[in-house]
Amino acid sequence: MKDFIASLPKAELHLHIEGSLEPELMFALAERNGIAIPYASVEDVRAAYAFSNLQDFLDIYYAGAGVLQTEADFRDLAMAYFERAAADGVVHAEIMFDPQTHTDRGIAFGTVIEGLLAAMAEAEARLGITSLLIMSFLRHLSEEAAFETLAMAEPWLDRIAAVGLDSSELGHPPAKFARVFAAARAKGLRLTAHAGEEGPPDYVHEALDMLGVDRIDHGNRALEDEGLVARLAAEGMTLTVCPLSNLKLCVVDDLARHPLDRMLAAGLKATVNSDDPAYFGGYVAENYRAVAKARGLSREHLVTLARNSFTGSFLPEGDVARHLAAIDAFEARA
Ligand code: HPA
Ligand code: ZN
Repeated sequence: MKDFIASLPKAELHLHIEGSLEPELMFALAERNGIAIPYASVEDVRAAYAFSNLQDFLDIYYAGAGVLQTEADFRDLAMAYFERAAADGVVHAEIMFDPQTHTDRGIAFGTVIEGLLAAMAEAEARLGITSLLIMSFLRHLSEEAAFETLAMAEPWLDRIAAVGLDSSELGHPPAKFARVFAAARAKGLRLTAHAGEEGPPDYVHEALDMLGVDRIDHGNRALEDEGLVARLAAEGMTLTVCPLSNLKLCVVDDLARHPLDRMLAAGLKATVNSDDPAYFGGYVAENYRAVAKARGLSREHLVTLARNSFTGSFLPEGDVARHLAAIDAFEARA
């Protein structure tokens, strides 16, 4: 099963690049940039990664991102992710980045995105992984700040596939960003939003109705609303589910009770993703493995999840068809 999962061609659709900052790289960048961090050792950092909810994690995650200063830092960060992704059978990645985490501490938007774009080009040339960028707005900040971020992105809009919405969900419903999402859509960007991770099913309804999203990040709590489940299934809406994240942020109390296979049985287009792998204990293949073991998933389940990762991607139809054919060929060999 381990080899089957690692070699199964897959896309990763829910990955915060800042969440792939491993403690070793955090220390190396802190030293390179002369930045003090409140940890004595790599072990000390890992020991701090015990979270009881989303906000606990976000506080540590935003502090960790402070070591990222130069274009080379962002390139190194993303390259380290692509190396891990390649080893996990990822052939396409849609990467979220949070510009406001950096611009608010004086790092230029261009420094962030040029570093990421350099790594994306290298990953395609050297590792054969294609990738797209999703620019995420921090929902605990204002609508006005999101509009300012969209304006800053203007020179790079042809290099950004989509906008997303992340950070503290409770108290920051999708409706707050309806106008900026409409503006992003008018610029030709695709739309995704975190909804139903900690927030209620109503936030998922809002993401659909007021933002018009193309997919939902997480979406776990949609299961509390039968009518919503039926709607998501009927619309073929992709959910980017993150099992180890759900466990570490206490969205589920035990992986043995993770709803992934219930989602599939309900006709939902669920996918498996790592969210913030450096913080949650595993990259995408480990997420497949852990949830497969905990829930007794079959190979058929795993193949369905991988197929959903391509059909739910923002790739053009021809590329999706090519990746699905590669899965068929993989299955025929396996
Ligand atoms: N939820 C909300 N915001 C985030 C997350 C998440 O899982 N990861 C990074 N930012
Ligand atoms: Zn996320």
